Amino acid sequence: MALVTANKKNLILVSGRAHPQLAQDVAKELDSELLETEARTFANGEIYARFGESVRGADAFVIQSHTHPINEWLMEQLIMVDALKRASAKRITVVAPFYPYARQDKKGRGREPISARLVADLYKAAGADRIMSIDLHASQIQGFFDGPVDHLFAMPVLLEHFQKSLSSDDLTVVSPDMGRVRVADIWSDKLGAPLAIIHKRRDPRVPNQVSVHEIVGEVEGRVCLLVDDLIDTGRTIQKAAEALKKNGAKGVVVAATHAVFSDPATEVLQDPSIDQVVVTDTLPLPDHKRWDRLTVLPIAPLLGRAIREVFDDGSVTSMFDGQA
Ligand code: R5P
Repeated sequence: MALVTANKKNLILVSGRAHPQLAQDVAKELDSELLETEARTFANGEIYARFGESVRGADAFVIQSHTHPINEWLMEQLIMVDALKRASAKRITVVAPFYPYARQDKKGRGREPISARLVADLYKAAGADRIMSIDLHASQIQGFFDGPVDHLFAMPVLLEHFQKSLSSDDLTVVSPDMGRVRVADIWSDKLGAPLAIIHKRRDPRVPNQVSVHEIVGEVEGRVCLLVDDLIDTGRTIQKAAEALKKNGAKGVVVAATHAVFSDPATEVLQDPSIDQVVVTDTLPLPDHKRWDRLTVLPIAPLLGRAIREVFDDGSVTSMFDGQA
């Protein structure tokens, strides 16, 4: 179904087909109405998009969630940006709550691509003026795009949940790998809980395989809160939770922004060593990928507020003062 939103102030909200519910929720936050867009895929896989009304002079926000099939949804978003540009939208913001290809942000070995940079170039070439994203896998991705990048943080949303449900007395915040230590450290400050770090190893020749080498920090008799930006196959979290329980943790709860949940994540995350998983809905989660120990928090209020700040020339930074 086609989704374009416009309000009388000329803010236009366009949605790709990957996660229409999120776009609708954001439109609601903005007190805006969804308008019609025609978006379809031809028999050979090519995508077509056309807006149902004039976008001339509009401040357009194009929301797409980069879930499977990610290349298709990225291409659809690029095509929508191109259509907006050619129809004389005044400013175009790509809203990519989960930035595609964020994990390939550098050459880890010779002859590798830097796909996250390529994606930024593609957005620019299509006609995007700015990008809005949540919890980028690496902050330096902001520098890949030649224009403003609004980097939002889901931490306030997740933190509020845990401040209500966990006691800081026996809590330890755990970073599941070295890459997330800085963020885990902020969590530990916010919750007044000590920090532990897991030394994770991946074999670069075998995708999605993980092993835990060592835990640095006190976890025995503690409730461990593992914080990560994303859960893909779930193996990072599963291996970390197993290691924490083996080292005497009395509970393991997990906070992550992006529930990518590629197979077999749903099974893996129901491992008995994991007591609770809390994520946001930056990506669509069908019913068969949900279970009783999973909590999904809405991200639309955060996105709606950020879009409002950008549209009103307000401050996105002020949304996170002292938070991240
Ligand atoms: C790693 O750098 C990320 O922060 C995640 O921990 C990782 O990508 C999750 O992947 P998976 O769930 O497949 O282990």
